[in-house]
Amino acid sequence: MRHALIGVSALLFSTPALAASGEAVNPWVALAYLIAGVLFILALRGLSSPETSRAGNRYGMIGMLIAVVTTLVTHDIASLPEIGVAIAIGGGFGFLMARKIAMTDMPQLVAGFHSLVGMAAVLVGVAAYLNPGAFGILDGAGEILTVSRIELGLGVAIGAITFSGSVIAFLKLNGNMSGAPIMLPARHVINLGVLTAIIGLTGYFSVMPTADSSTIFWVILALAFAIGFLLIIPIGGADMPVVVSMLNSYSGWAAAAMGFTLGNTAMIITGALVGSSGAILSYIMCRAMNRSFISVIAGGFGAESGPADGAEKIDRPWKRGSAEDAAYMMKQAENIIIIPGYGMAVAQAQHALREMADLLEEEGVNVKFAIHPVAGRMPGHMNVLLAEASVDYDKVFELEDINSEFAQADVAFIIGANDVVNPAAKTDKSSPIYGMPVFDVDKAKQVFFIKRSMGGVGYAGVDNEVFYMDQTMMLLSDAKKMCEEIVKAL
Ligand code: TAP
Repeated sequence: MRHALIGVSALLFSTPALAASGEAVNPWVALAYLIAGVLFILALRGLSSPETSRAGNRYGMIGMLIAVVTTLVTHDIASLPEIGVAIAIGGGFGFLMARKIAMTDMPQLVAGFHSLVGMAAVLVGVAAYLNPGAFGILDGAGEILTVSRIELGLGVAIGAITFSGSVIAFLKLNGNMSGAPIMLPARHVINLGVLTAIIGLTGYFSVMPTADSSTIFWVILALAFAIGFLLIIPIGGADMPVVVSMLNSYSGWAAAAMGFTLGNTAMIITGALVGSSGAILSYIMCRAMNRSFISVIAGGFGAESGPADGAEKIDRPWKRGSAEDAAYMMKQAENIIIIPGYGMAVAQAQHALREMADLLEEEGVNVKFAIHPVAGRMPGHMNVLLAEASVDYDKVFELEDINSEFAQADVAFIIGANDVVNPAAKTDKSSPIYGMPVFDVDKAKQVFFIKRSMGGVGYAGVDNEVFYMDQTMMLLSDAKKMCEEIVKAL
């Protein structure tokens, strides 16, 4: 939803507003934007829980419709056919990409979309700088208003950082670039220097005569493109989820800055909502991975581990089980906690899993689902899949609400999860996931662990002690196939 919000505000980008051109703001326009803003807030509120998320989406859609229609009806813009063609081209591409993309590739798609928002902000800023008269940001003496220069400088800088940062995030997530951090010598000094230069030059840009400011403007833009690149290359694959959410936040602030330049209230509200909710999500994700925001931005995490580069193979005894073993033992159980992870998404095993859970419940077993905040590859990944398979929301629990129940659980059923159940996060200071809160599956009486092979590793690329525990039975198979076999056996 936050991405859709920012997409719509990009639509509003191209429309110099009445306020910016010095005319009084039509109170009906202001009211319509206010209503749209309230609906966006209700949308975000609704999305905070699975039960209310559909209503939240609806609020968001109505809010967007109001914002777009108001903008199209009231603003002095290019002809409607021109806008229609632009919307058809952009919307058509978006529609096709969203339909084609696999759920597991969603993070890179989101990173790609953020780069477009960043570029849109840059292009609006450049257009406003090159033709300030059309944007109504000139004072009586023909100079760009000081406040507009500050907004322009900051807007294009944040937009350019968002663009180049998102392109690198896309390349890393899509596997076109190694997920391992690329560490430049003295990178902190370079980054700090470039950031200081951007801020200093923006200050200078805001006070110098417009006619002499062109070099400074382009230098700010070039430095911002460079810093986006420099900031993201040292960040390792394990921190990418936080980076994507952070870039989402940046794209919101870029839109808000442009909203000020254009005097468009809807863009300011939307940008601020996206910016702040993205920042809060980044914070929540950092907390879930026990990483400080500063250490993520400073980069370098996961240098040795990158995504699935292969773990050190340890030859240790482990037990292999079959679908029949699992079915038999789970039928006898009283309490089962299912922990889904990325592998469930890859195998699309959620429907077979729900069928398995239904059958067990018919046998009188109490089945719960435990979702880690960073399970899968995007926030809410597991919630979406379980909802798609019509698993009741009241059977789905967050980490902090269910972790204490593993001590009473007869079975912990791990399906395609790995890092989120790895006890090394609690015990091994040298592990790249050390400090991340994980499920206490080692406390359950019996553990079933579905994955395809003993060689495959989780995202952090490390071995997992749970494979070798006395009470663990490895169910080596594709997750969907294994669930279907268990269903048959049940
Ligand atoms: P992972 O640790 O990535 O483990 C995935 C497991 O699924 C592996 O053990 C893999 O082993 C197995 N698997 C893969 N395909 C399978 C299939 N078809 N059938 C059965 N098993 C399959 O997953 P997780 O526990 O969900 O942890 C998430 C990790 O991703 C965390 O490290 C997190 O930081 C990171 N991350 C999260 C996000 C967000 S926002 N959620 C975004 C990016 C990264 P085999 O290969 O042997 O089958």
